[in-house]
Amino acid sequence: MRTKVAIIGSGPSGLLLGQLLTRAGIDNIIVDRVSRDYILGRVRAGVLEWGTVGLLEQAGVAARMFAEGLPHDGYSLAFDGRDHRIDLFALTGKRVMVYGQTEVTRDLMDAREVAGAPTIYEANHVQIFDFDGGNPYVTYEKDGVTHRIDCDFIAGCDGFHGVSRKSVPEKSIKTFEKVYPFGWLGILADIPPVSHELIYANHPRGFALSSMRSETRSRYYIQCELDDKVENWSDERFFDEFRRRLPAHHAEALVVGPSFEKSIAPLRSFVAEPMRFGRLFLVGDSAHIVPPTGAKGLNLAASDVYYLFNGLQEYFAEKSEAGIDVYSERALSRVWKSVRFSWSMTTLMHRFPDTGDFGQKIQESELDYLIHSKAASTAMAENYVGLPY
Ligand code: FAD
Ligand code: DHB
Repeated sequence: MRTKVAIIGSGPSGLLLGQLLTRAGIDNIIVDRVSRDYILGRVRAGVLEWGTVGLLEQAGVAARMFAEGLPHDGYSLAFDGRDHRIDLFALTGKRVMVYGQTEVTRDLMDAREVAGAPTIYEANHVQIFDFDGGNPYVTYEKDGVTHRIDCDFIAGCDGFHGVSRKSVPEKSIKTFEKVYPFGWLGILADIPPVSHELIYANHPRGFALSSMRSETRSRYYIQCELDDKVENWSDERFFDEFRRRLPAHHAEALVVGPSFEKSIAPLRSFVAEPMRFGRLFLVGDSAHIVPPTGAKGLNLAASDVYYLFNGLQEYFAEKSEAGIDVYSERALSRVWKSVRFSWSMTTLMHRFPDTGDFGQKIQESELDYLIHSKAASTAMAENYVGLPY
């Protein structure tokens, strides 16, 4: 097989890149080691920056998002028993869209099927070769047979644990990492959200987040111990703890109901530099991870795709390497700003095991400053709605 761009990974970054390329007449093949249903079963991000919304529009997959997604003009920061609204729209003129990653992925998969662009699911033992030379190729095994895809470029969209970054010689890559001393326990339940906007709560017992997937489906999170297990958390125990971390008027309004998904995610900041190695590009989680506070992971994957798609389009339409040559630099400049924002929001909102009451007081003082200073609220809002591409 031969294609222009071999894409490793059928998550949001691989699918979005594939869809933009296909629409621009640039053929591409996606390979993923798991099945379509497995990918659609993963519950992940929920908030899209307007830049991501625009890219999905450009990819021709925005109709259901505009029909079913929930545009949000603000969110609440809760601490000291009260909540305070950050008015995103008044501060920045921009809003965000609440629309789950699962739905984005489904829309992109459906559009890819309609376009007839090939995806190979359940491809075992994917390997990438010769990306430093002129003839890169990808191999994989399926049903006991080894297949080879020759290509002009490889897009490594295969997430943090994928094969792409790991195939780069250690001496050519530098990584930066911070692991946080807690996790997030999340549930999904068909109950109306406790408030129509998101609530990020700082509480001495730990962080809590009230989010949603629709007006009838809630996504709630609480900070938990890193080594905690979902088996320790009945729905009843989860809701009791979640309630305790919310301001009283929200706690009283909380409607409970059986959860149908419950999982624990560790929190980590990670960046690999550079993001290009000859004819291989790292995109999305394969190059960087942010802690979920502030909902930047999926949005960063989308901005990487924006830079790479434009570079590849320029290459195939005009035979110019200018765009792909600056891919890594442009992507990393935005990546680091989101890494900084996610780190700062995580640091502001969580209970750290080693900072004690002093740490709590510092956080409350910073939050108090933030909500009373238009400059500080604007800086937070600008980052939350997404920095320009
Ligand atoms: P992924 O979505 O990870 O997709 C990578 C794809 O590559 C997968 O389909 C995988 O099967 C495939 N793959 C992996 N290895 C191989 C291989 N060797 N060969 C072939 N294919 C391979 N972000 C937020 O903003 N908010 C959240 O609440 C949030 N929650 C999260 C919860 C969890 C548990 C995780 C892991 C992430 C969460 N994120 C969240 C981050 C967000 O989901 C990611 O940033 C986003 O999925 C990145 O998209 P991606 O396409 O780059 O990578
Ligand atoms: C969600 C996750 C986040 O990390 C966040 O900041 C907002 C919303 C969510 O899963 O809905």
